[in-house]
Amino acid sequence: MYNKIDLDRIDINLAPPLEEPDRQYYFIAKCRELIREFGQKNGRFPTACIQTFGCQMNSRDSEKLLGVLKEIGYQESDSEEADFVIYNTCTVRENANLKVYGRLGFLQTRKKKNPNMLIALCGCMMQEQQVVEKIQKSYRFVDIIFGTHNIYKLAELLYQRMQSGKMVVDLWKDTANIVEDLPNQRKYPFKSGVNIMFGCNNFCSYCIVPYVRGRERSRNPQDIVREITGLVADGVSEIMLLGQNVNSYGKNLDKPVSFAELLKEIEQIEGLKRIRFMTPHPKDFSNELIEVMKSSHKICKQVHLPVQSGSSRILKLMNRHYTKEQYLALVERIRTAMPEVSFTTDIIVGFPGETEEDFEETLDVVKKVRFDSAFTFIYSKRTGTLAAEMEDQVPEEIVGKRFDRLLHEIQKISAELTKEREGKIETALVEEINVQSQEFVTGRLSNNLLVHFKGDASLIGKLVSVKLKESKGFYYIGELV
Ligand code: SAH
Ligand code: SF4
Ligand code: F3S
Repeated sequence: MYNKIDLDRIDINLAPPLEEPDRQYYFIAKCRELIREFGQKNGRFPTACIQTFGCQMNSRDSEKLLGVLKEIGYQESDSEEADFVIYNTCTVRENANLKVYGRLGFLQTRKKKNPNMLIALCGCMMQEQQVVEKIQKSYRFVDIIFGTHNIYKLAELLYQRMQSGKMVVDLWKDTANIVEDLPNQRKYPFKSGVNIMFGCNNFCSYCIVPYVRGRERSRNPQDIVREITGLVADGVSEIMLLGQNVNSYGKNLDKPVSFAELLKEIEQIEGLKRIRFMTPHPKDFSNELIEVMKSSHKICKQVHLPVQSGSSRILKLMNRHYTKEQYLALVERIRTAMPEVSFTTDIIVGFPGETEEDFEETLDVVKKVRFDSAFTFIYSKRTGTLAAEMEDQVPEEIVGKRFDRLLHEIQKISAELTKEREGKIETALVEEINVQSQEFVTGRLSNNLLVHFKGDASLIGKLVSVKLKESKGFYYIGELV
């Protein structure tokens, strides 16, 4: 856990330490001096804006970047007119990628108006060689480029840029290191993501993540527990444990620990109210995990279980290591143990070679499982992955139609399920005063849906019982009981 460091006690006239995290504390202190000079000259502190393009892991990385910038003395801003703009990029699908190029054009205009402005690009997209080459060639106004493995080095790279005045590029292919105890600045006071592992070893054939996030590495359980204990002391009620495949947590530690064992330890943390996790891979969802979830008072009875496709043939081509039948049997096993559990999923439409029959298998799984909600994606070809080499890419028009049919089915089921729960009393974690009406608060149910009900700010961060009076499709109007 990061305990606020006393930057004044660091001698910045000495050579930088070689050990982490001390080295970064040193560069934070160095940058802070330069930022103070900026403040004296301009009569204000500089502003910084971080834009996050990707998943929860990307968001958590952004909180770490912001933590470092705040220590340095930057004021947080949500406007891209800030003095320092960082794009934390995603490359899981082509459109995430294109968005970044589009917005870089806009940043260039900003920079012409504010020549002191700094622009940094980091995250998954930067782990792709062709992307970095393009930026170095056609987007010369970018100041700092770094990747996913060295995100903790922001202060050092920023200092380097401020001293040299030149573009700084620092990219690593992979790393075995995990640097602990760096600052971070949470987006929400009462809930937080917590990384339990980094990287992925699964190589699903469509997916670029293993190439840009490197090999699987687990954090030590004691570091995780220490971080969560600190978060709880700081007002956090709910945590989301993050990893690309949490079910393989701990396998490569010196003393192996299973994900289920880790959950049992986290359950003991006093004051912690809710535990969520994502993403478990269906191929190794153990009975031990089901048992731990069942007996837990804190783990939300909601499972995000990406199916990707309902066709066993496609699943094999996707390298997912389970069949349609195995997936359905797993859902059944989880439901038998916890009848109140709700499921959400991820689905890809239009994987190479997907036929109408394959697609119907996917619809069949959706109807059988009855997901609370699902993230649906149109297959996007990612250079370097196995699927990109496959023939039979499905024509756009066909994919579009399938996508609409799928969405329609999911929305229908989702509305039915929400309706079925009308009248029930459930527990909600109160997150905020309702944006539309000051007399109402907004709470999150165990299954992730929102409920709005009469209440005041004193409820924020608390778990309360709420009667779900009226379903509004994707949320409820409720009443405190
Ligand atoms: N590790 C998680 C998911 C990470 S990526 C898991 O295994 O479930 C999040 C989602 O993006 C995936 O579940 C998948 O549905 C989608 N996705 C990944 N690569 C994609 C691609 N090339 N095209 C379309 N969707 C993709
Ligand atoms: Fe991608 Fe598969 Fe790893 Fe998830 S498990 S990140 S889909 S390769
Ligand atoms: Fe996440 Fe996108 Fe990277 S989904 S892991 S930010 S490629």
